Amino acid sequence: MPRYPSAWLEELRARSDIVQVVSAYVPLKKSGRHHWGLCPFHGEKTASFSVDGERQLFYCFGCKAGGDVFHFVSEIERCSFSEAVQLLADRAHMDVPEMEESEEYRRQKSQRERLMLANKTAARFYHETLFKPAGAASLAYLRKRGLTDQVIRRFGLGAAPDAWSALTDHLLQEGFTLEELRLAGLTVIKEPEKGSDGKSGKRRAFDMFRNRAIFPIIDMYGNVLAFGGRALGNQQPKYLNTSDTPVFNKRKGVYAANLLRKQRHLDRVILVEGYMDVVSLSQFGVEGVCATLGTALTNEQAQLMRRFAPQVYLGYDGDSAGQHAILRGLGILEEEGIPARVLDFPDGLDPDEYIRRDGLAGFQKLPAISPAAYRLRRLRADLDLSTAEGRITYAREAAKVLRSLDPVERDSFLKELMVQTGFSRETLLEQMNLPGITPATVQERPRPARLNSGREAPASEDVTAQELLLSLIAGGQIPRGMAEEEDFTDEELLGLYRDLMAGASVPSLIDRAADDEARARYTRVLMTPEAEDKDQMIAMANDCVLRIRKNHYNRRLKELETLLTNTSPEEQGQLLQEAMELNTKIKKLSALAPASKHD
Ligand code: GTP
Ligand code: MN
Repeated sequence: MPRYPSAWLEELRARSDIVQVVSAYVPLKKSGRHHWGLCPFHGEKTASFSVDGERQLFYCFGCKAGGDVFHFVSEIERCSFSEAVQLLADRAHMDVPEMEESEEYRRQKSQRERLMLANKTAARFYHETLFKPAGAASLAYLRKRGLTDQVIRRFGLGAAPDAWSALTDHLLQEGFTLEELRLAGLTVIKEPEKGSDGKSGKRRAFDMFRNRAIFPIIDMYGNVLAFGGRALGNQQPKYLNTSDTPVFNKRKGVYAANLLRKQRHLDRVILVEGYMDVVSLSQFGVEGVCATLGTALTNEQAQLMRRFAPQVYLGYDGDSAGQHAILRGLGILEEEGIPARVLDFPDGLDPDEYIRRDGLAGFQKLPAISPAAYRLRRLRADLDLSTAEGRITYAREAAKVLRSLDPVERDSFLKELMVQTGFSRETLLEQMNLPGITPATVQERPRPARLNSGREAPASEDVTAQELLLSLIAGGQIPRGMAEEEDFTDEELLGLYRDLMAGASVPSLIDRAADDEARARYTRVLMTPEAEDKDQMIAMANDCVLRIRKNHYNRRLKELETLLTNTSPEEQGQLLQEAMELNTKIKKLSALAPASKHD
């Protein structure tokens, strides 16, 4: 992230009220200390998206997106941090100053930028080669697969020549070092083997991709991160992909993210398995298609797709591996709270083969099946419903699938299930073992006070108290000196506390988070807790400090007990002394009444 002069950035922040900025995109309603609305980053029906005007932060309790006004703009506009700064500066009629950059930042950035530049130069080389004699075989292959020049250009497809080091030579000439090419995964370096005469042979460098059709993998900002290379015949492996590098993590991105970003207002993203499927569907006019990068769907990829559309369709291959992957993919999407559908391709076809056979019209006629319908269909495929045994097993397993549905959707499957199994409605409902109907089925809006709700492992009571304490301190109403550094045993919280004490503003703390996960945690922790007034905040902070210290003292006492069993007499004396002091401290803490109401 570029470092703008912090005074300037604070000025811009002050002139970009987050409630006003967000309101331009999302209708908000004030309730309690926060404003609430429907989260623009994931599909939802109850408002779990909150904006804290006091702290100038936003946080979604559903999808855990969160941050300050700059993060909000970069997420909603799908742009980089500096583009968001530019947008807000325009809005506030402020000029963007020249940027200062720290030494460390410049070094890291320059390596990443060098590698991405090498990748971009490589992509251009591959693409240009495609239309030269050295690329004739690849071009013929892509044409044989039915691709038009237009779609070849849209995806920047290319050719790796049938030569040992055509790309490496080209990039060395362009001024890249062998080490950069190795780090980018473009060049493989073979260390010399010692010959029988004891002398070393020569170090050899050769291209990672040779004699393959090339699919550049480009992120949403247009950076070329990696490549996939398709064999032109039956050579193995069929696809060769760049392994992870300093700029590429195959579990985090999706293929064609650059195009997704340009396709605004998609009502769904279609996720397929292969590069070729994406390119082919795009050629036939299907928008919003992307693919995983040769691995099963990950949570990070699901979160990424959510930024482009409110629901995801799984369009995996119709073969058995693809069908298995659908069940796993549905699980991941469910975990992330993303509404999903399944496109079930007939006759074991993959999306590319299917759209070539049945055309765009055929593709658009494919039903998008609900996850439950798909799971039931899969169950039936493995069972013989003409036997009593098959019907019983089906009824049992189907009950498990229907159990988690809402009543209306469940009911729509029940009739079908009665017909298929011959069991009565009552029996089937009983099999589902549903909890009694309680008002709790209508989900209550989560409240910020529940600070440790979230996907991470449940925080210990101690860390929860530390989080709440920090959040109260961030409000600026708690007298200095109430808490001490020792109260924060959690490293991240300690870091935030120190920065706060050094005078950092709350939103600027969020900018220090290293990644999305840390940012979500910081935001959650720093949101204004639900408290009535200053007195109540002080009382809560006091309570946190007492709980934290009591925990620490008790923990140390436990330690002392174990230490005491095997030490020399004089050491025992010291330990006992410490234990007695601790006991006194604990007594004192317990005697402290909750903060009084008059100060
Ligand atoms: P085509 O045969 O070109 O139509 O491929 P496809 O799109 O039908 O791909 P397939 O279903 O065979 O594979 C889907 C995806 O899995 C590919 O896009 C690759 O990302 C990955 N993949 C396939 N084969 C290999 C392989 O041999 N090695 C690796 N690393 N990845 C592969
Ligand atoms: Mn295929």
